[in-house]
Amino acid sequence: MTTPPPAAELLLREAVRLADAALELTLPAADAWPARLHQAMRYSVFAGGKRLRPALVLAGCRAVGGSYAACAPALAAVELLHTYTLVHDDLPAMDDDDLRRGRPTCHKAFDEATAILAGDALQTLAFEALAEISGEAVRVLARAAGSRGVVGGQQEDIDAEGSPVDASPACRARLERIHRGKTAALIRASVEIGGLSGGATPAQRAALVAYGEAIGLAFQVADDVLDATADAATLGKTPGKDAEQGKLTYVAVHGLTAARAEAERLLAEALVALVPLGAAAEPLAALGRFVVQRDR
Ligand code: IPE
Ligand code: IPE
Ligand code: MG
Ligand code: MG
Ligand code: MG
Repeated sequence: MTTPPPAAELLLREAVRLADAALELTLPAADAWPARLHQAMRYSVFAGGKRLRPALVLAGCRAVGGSYAACAPALAAVELLHTYTLVHDDLPAMDDDDLRRGRPTCHKAFDEATAILAGDALQTLAFEALAEISGEAVRVLARAAGSRGVVGGQQEDIDAEGSPVDASPACRARLERIHRGKTAALIRASVEIGGLSGGATPAQRAALVAYGEAIGLAFQVADDVLDATADAATLGKTPGKDAEQGKLTYVAVHGLTAARAEAERLLAEALVALVPLGAAAEPLAALGRFVVQRDR
């Protein structure tokens, strides 16, 4: 894949700095009771994630004229929620992974019970942080994270493991449902919450949602491609697991070339959705290109 544009790299660097500051303020200290749990939460949060979802909050907020001050707790909230999904996704009962963000997964570094509880606590802490923004922001995240979003997508992802893969309309529809749920829902919500923090009008909010939905789906298509093509050192997780576990992915259903083309098509759709927001949405456009062109 090509090198991502520098504009997105700069934004992501800023998002790492700002999100980490907000996360540091939000997470209980590592020695606060119960220390082992807080250590596990911090271990997984401060493990070197890309901070794409906080970057989308920030860029969404700025696209409608808001500032960092208006959305700071939301940067922490979306990353806490995301990290919880990763900790649980890696558990033996789910994807059973040993490597995440370049280090042993939470249940490997600690133990399974602690990883389950750390995920639980990361999720509730996300909502506590988001309550500082607004009730509507809490509703958006709850809806995205729950049974009609991330959790629902994860359920069908597990249900679909090992099922016959073909290019039938039913199989394609199931694949899209899984990816919209497990991944696009939170990415879309991150952009939407950024907009809400910045005081988006209903029309601006609709544009952000359309962009977020397209880029969110593109993100998981790219994740499927990376699982099939990248190396562990760059990826920070073990590649090749999707094929090994018989996951329903874009690569399995459509093949690598068509999967890459689909990600580009979704990027184009996302960029069109940004047009009503004008030049203020350029950072979102740069993040969109990063999502599709990234190598990590
Ligand atoms: C990985 O997300 C999980 C998926 C939704 C595919 P990221 O690729 O954003 O992971 P981090 O946060 O950078 O570790
Ligand atoms: C998981 O998708 C998305 C969530 C964690 C909700 P994957 O299982 O493909 O994510 P990775 O590849 O393990 O990061
Ligand atoms: Mg998974
Ligand atoms: Mg996984
Ligand atoms: Mg994956």
